[in-house]
Amino acid sequence: MMADEPFEIFLVATPGLEGPLCAEARALGFKAKTVPGGVSIKGGWPDVWRANLDIRGATRVVARIDTFRAQHLSQLDKRARQVDWAKVLRRNRPFRVEATCKHSKIYHSGAAAERIERAIAEELGANASEDAEVCIKARIENDICTVSVDTSGELLHKRGHKQAVAKAPMRETMAAMFLRQCGFDGTQPVLDPMCGSGTFVIEAAEIASDLKPGRARHFAFEQLATFDPVAWEKLRSSQTTIIPTARFYGSDRDAGAVRMSRANAERAGVSAITEFKECSVEDVTAPEGPPGIVIVNPPYGDRIGDKPRMRTLYRTLGHTLLARFSGWRIGLITNDASLAHATGLPFSLTAEPVLHGGLRITLYRTAALP
Ligand SMILES: C[S@@+](CC[C@H](N)C(=O)[O-])C[C@H]1O[C@@H](n2cnc3c(N)ncnc32)[C@H](O)[C@@H]1O
Repeated sequence: MMADEPFEIFLVATPGLEGPLCAEARALGFKAKTVPGGVSIKGGWPDVWRANLDIRGATRVVARIDTFRAQHLSQLDKRARQVDWAKVLRRNRPFRVEATCKHSKIYHSGAAAERIERAIAEELGANASEDAEVCIKARIENDICTVSVDTSGELLHKRGHKQAVAKAPMRETMAAMFLRQCGFDGTQPVLDPMCGSGTFVIEAAEIASDLKPGRARHFAFEQLATFDPVAWEKLRSSQTTIIPTARFYGSDRDAGAVRMSRANAERAGVSAITEFKECSVEDVTAPEGPPGIVIVNPPYGDRIGDKPRMRTLYRTLGHTLLARFSGWRIGLITNDASLAHATGLPFSLTAEPVLHGGLRITLYRTAALP
């Protein structure tokens, strides 16, 4: 990586959500293309900061440092020592190295990581530490080693203002991409009748208000030698917000979930445009005003014996929406096609399955209900 030359910035996607992530990056002005596992953009360090601050759908943002051939550990060691580490890392900040090996003569990822770690420690004089926030990632594939630095640190779905989390919460990164796939552009009302900790509702309210997803958190790039605190502060404080006309609604039969949603919305700064109430799904009604988008991920019912109860729950959800949500479009996320169909909703659009936490989940969508 040369000082001022653009380099590759890789946006890691949730598997199956590369497409909407690429569309989001383009809409934010990045020249983005989809590649296996994510989205690639080219740029400099201010682009890295902006990607972390503005992009809702990336799991993390990784900056490429160097690429070289390494067929054995001594070659890896030699090349790793030639990398200009001082340009990226600070001598006084601890770091760690993670390595993966695929189709390569070097097959022991632990040994590869150790070699690189030692090379950095000796060449730069920085200390390796298992719990360091700064993480160098080495991917060795077909004997080519690609060295990158993770610029995000904690995963990006942690927006920094959610303390209360319900059971099986949806990740904010995924919620934002599912909303995008439902055609949400910030102008339509959104309602989640099984809102848990309120992820969809809060994410939609933030999008509508043009609030930057990374506005309230810390990033690993703040520890790097390339960090410019003045330029970063200017970028972060360039936040302009919109007062949306639409409102965002969540309900759940669990009083604790409703309390959590309210607290999370308060911390995110969107409580004035969100409404949460305790309500069972069969009692949900459409709010007054123009129709919008219902987005929901009901329980999946993974325990044995749950299925009949789940089928009844999904059927009730479908009947309620068909009876009371004329003109609204529905997005439903589940891991079981038979449960989606038990709703009786006229799904015509299905997105690519998404892999998350060992599950294969799918977004089922309808056009405006009759
Ligand atoms: C998978 S969680 C949703 C998680 C949520 N999207 C989030 O990000 O936190 C399913 C939610 O459905 C709620 N629920 C289950 N049965 C319900 C019913 N009959 N009426 C309303 N909510 C129900 C549960 O309390 C739970 O919060």
